Amino acid sequence: MGQYSLDRPDEPQEHRRLDLQHEMWLLTFNGELHLSKIPAMKNSILDIGCGNGVWTQAMATAHPTSHVTGMDITPPATAQRSNVKYVQANAEEPWPFHGQFTFIHARMLVAVVRDWPTLLKQCWEHLEPGGRFELSDLVPPVHAAESEWDNDTSPIIKWATAVQATWRTEGLDPTVISDLDKTLEQLGFVNITHSRLRWPVGTWSNDEKERKIGELCLLNFQRIHESAGHRMLLNKNSNISEDEARNLSNDGIKDFTENCCSKRFFFDL
Ligand SMILES: C[S@@+](CC[C@H](N)C(=O)[O-])C[C@H]1O[C@@H](n2cnc3c(N)ncnc32)[C@H](O)[C@@H]1O
Repeated sequence: MGQYSLDRPDEPQEHRRLDLQHEMWLLTFNGELHLSKIPAMKNSILDIGCGNGVWTQAMATAHPTSHVTGMDITPPATAQRSNVKYVQANAEEPWPFHGQFTFIHARMLVAVVRDWPTLLKQCWEHLEPGGRFELSDLVPPVHAAESEWDNDTSPIIKWATAVQATWRTEGLDPTVISDLDKTLEQLGFVNITHSRLRWPVGTWSNDEKERKIGELCLLNFQRIHESAGHRMLLNKNSNISEDEARNLSNDGIKDFTENCCSKRFFFDL
């Protein structure tokens, strides 16, 4: 696998950012942790790429009769409840357990997973008959609802386009998330549904819930830029210097911060 360019989830600032991003998902799902219907009791749940364990832990608290396993490539979070277990493992390699789950959850892994067919095959093999798999993610790139800015004359879109080009050199497909149905169907998944949602950036929406999400979304991406905005443009195949990467990142976040409400930036989910 290639490098993961965000900070490790056990670093304090990334831990706090993942908590903030979790808050955005909760608002998006009207306070729910997931959209799939699962049995009320005694589930066996897996959270792939669980990060700081914020969803894993919340799920274990909400479902005290269920058992929740969080899996991440970095050293796992500390289990705070007896019905939670963390496993350190690479989700793209054979998983180090044989059990089956009633619910498998994967969130914000678009910049992580290179081999989706293999990952989804493992999900299929580790799901009980009738089990559910839920994938929640961004569908890059960012857009401007004011369409004259929906192109790389907007510095944030220029940065995002450059990030996607870097991802491609590492074997990541930025658009894969909206294109997995065929793979899922071939594996045997049925009743595949999509919820088309969006995250506005900044407080430009007329909708109160979207304004709250937008406020947090801007903060979330400001934090990503502070810690990793330039690093996301650099790898061994990059043809730009570190200074150029920093300038692109700085211009991008300035655009997000100053123009999010006039250009009405948003992400599709
Ligand atoms: C953006 S974070 C998302 C965390 C969590 N799913 C959430 O929504 O709060 C991506 C996580 O994937 C983990 N990761 C990266 N590559 C991985 C891999 N190959 N297998 C498992 N986890 C991986 C990272 O360590 C990080 O914690």
